[in-house]
Amino acid sequence: MSQLKFIATTAFGLEATVKREIQKLGFENISSNDGMVCFSGDESTIPKANIHLRSSDRILLMIGQFKAFSFEELFEKTKSLNWSDWIPKNGNFIITGKSIKSQLYSVPDCQSIVEKAIIENLKKKYKINWFEKTGAKYKIQAAILKDTVTLTIDTTGDSLHKRGYRDSAVIAPLKETLAAALIELSFWKKDRIFLDPTCGSGTIPIEAALIAKNIAPGISRKFVSESWENIPLRFWKDTRCKAYSEIDINIKPEIFGSDIDPKAIEIAKHNAINAGVDDCIHFEIKPLKDISLKKDYGICICNPPYAERMGELIDVENLYKDMGRIFRKNKTWSFYTITSHEGFEKLYGQKADKKRKLFNGNVKTDYYQYYGTRPPKK
Ligand SMILES: C[S@@+](CC[C@H](N)C(=O)[O-])C[C@H]1O[C@@H](n2cnc3c(N)ncnc32)[C@H](O)[C@@H]1O
Repeated sequence: MSQLKFIATTAFGLEATVKREIQKLGFENISSNDGMVCFSGDESTIPKANIHLRSSDRILLMIGQFKAFSFEELFEKTKSLNWSDWIPKNGNFIITGKSIKSQLYSVPDCQSIVEKAIIENLKKKYKINWFEKTGAKYKIQAAILKDTVTLTIDTTGDSLHKRGYRDSAVIAPLKETLAAALIELSFWKKDRIFLDPTCGSGTIPIEAALIAKNIAPGISRKFVSESWENIPLRFWKDTRCKAYSEIDINIKPEIFGSDIDPKAIEIAKHNAINAGVDDCIHFEIKPLKDISLKKDYGICICNPPYAERMGELIDVENLYKDMGRIFRKNKTWSFYTITSHEGFEKLYGQKADKKRKLFNGNVKTDYYQYYGTRPPKK
């Protein structure tokens, strides 16, 4: 097996969360930068990272990294890499590109030079002049940042947020990867009661249930690298079998999701069935103002309307006031919410213990965190 380098891409603000997940999976040489976490492993890392990572968007396999200030340099250095280690004779490869603060700024030109260099390399190796590209897909990215070129192949395909359980959603659903990250940032433990009172299509409670039952998020979906020749199929099979054997089928966490919209609850129930977690989430049609906290030491994580893509400003502000009225009253509860409304703390009636800048898609938001008292030690 070879020593390979990988990049797990992340939404801005989630690098530390993804880094923690990568550490837990036992990968090595971990470092993070804006929107990415680098780490190393071998061929079996590809199934393991894709199937298990909850908050990353995709896993890129790094083929090479070098400085380039001219097209000639880009061509020669790209050509010298071991492309045939990964791309077979019939490989269907395409090149994408981006360039930031670099002398080589024309992305279409860089893409075409990278493609020519790869073709030259493969021609020599396979002794053919024409590539039919009828085989497996290889999406190569040439990313140039401050004159450093990073050449990668995408191992994921459809982004990791596409777990496969959400075939319908309300307006403005949260990406599954961001929902998982919000839960990980709260350090929720599965023995504590969990509530999302504006649950929409159920993404946050479903991700909480997947975590509680230890269901790997990518266990039942496909990845583009599953059809690559040099990753033995048994690596995928073994990773999935182990992941299935690690599911905690006996756990009965107390997870609640509610929403004012009956249609949303119908969708959420359907998605929970798809995800195999309908046995541990209780969904209910309920306006937030009617929530009463019957037990102590719970955790509420929610993604309410921000009045940007959804909701009238006056209703949204009243909703935030209701949140403060309900959750400030019980000091044992921890409350977490994500919103782009800058007046949130004022409406809630209390300054957050911690605020973290996050991007929900293109929307700049804050993740407001109010810590409740810790439960007594058992
Ligand atoms: C941004 S969406 C939540 C999306 C959800 N996180 C998902 O992934 O599908 C906000 C949700 O808040 C609900 N909502 C709005 N006002 C509410 C209220 N007063 N009480 C309860 N739910 C409310 C809406 O019906 C909507 O489903």
